[in-house]
Amino acid sequence: MEVKIYKDKQEVAERFSKYFAELVTDAQIFHVALSGGSTPKVVFDVLAKEYGNKIDWANIHFYWGDERCVLPSDNDSNYKMTVEHLFSKIEVPKENIHRILGENDPNNEAMRYANLLEINLDRVEGIPQFDLVILGMGDDGHTASIFPHEIELWDAKDHCLVATHPDSGQKRVSINGKVINTAKEVAFLVTGENKAEKVDEIHNQKEGYEKYPASLVKSDSGQLVWFLDKEAASNL
Ligand code: 6PG
Repeated sequence: MEVKIYKDKQEVAERFSKYFAELVTDAQIFHVALSGGSTPKVVFDVLAKEYGNKIDWANIHFYWGDERCVLPSDNDSNYKMTVEHLFSKIEVPKENIHRILGENDPNNEAMRYANLLEINLDRVEGIPQFDLVILGMGDDGHTASIFPHEIELWDAKDHCLVATHPDSGQKRVSINGKVINTAKEVAFLVTGENKAEKVDEIHNQKEGYEKYPASLVKSDSGQLVWFLDKEAASNL
């Protein structure tokens, strides 16, 4: 595991974008699972602005590690956020965008998406393997949409599962822990003071850290890189 600490969210976005651009160079085809939330907005803005015409987006296929079960036009939609901050600014073939259909029945969509991953991705011991999974971490220690109150979903037998947000009750479709840890690369993008406590507990393996889903990300077969800003790393 590698931990990179930068000045602020903007520098995290700039350094991650450089890392991403280097990863996709020379790739014939590259399958990446995106995360949602607010941190990726800055990352996508930098990717579009600095690398919009430097990356051959036709080789990159976009998926999501998790999606809220809402319409793609809903402000809660991770897909909608990605269109606004990235896809609307770059030349990416629409067939390269594999969104989770938040408008569908959650259980049916989890099955459909799991099948899609099986078809589109190489498999390692039966588990679809992404070239890169981008993750965020909530201030409760969740990652993708695996929340502490239902951490057993990390070990769901299916590649994709239906989760429930602990406060809002909103349904989510998420990839499970095996898909995350089978990725060739996992990049954690964690910024802000409100993440510092959990970052410290997880990285210093403090009492009870295993109850946070983010602590279970290991990237068994590849490289795990944490991109932190100084605020999120302030207790390290
Ligand atoms: C989501 C994300 C989620 C996110 C964390 C961190 O759909 O909300 O996938 O796991 O990464 O909540 O979000 P911030 O970057 O907004 O803190």
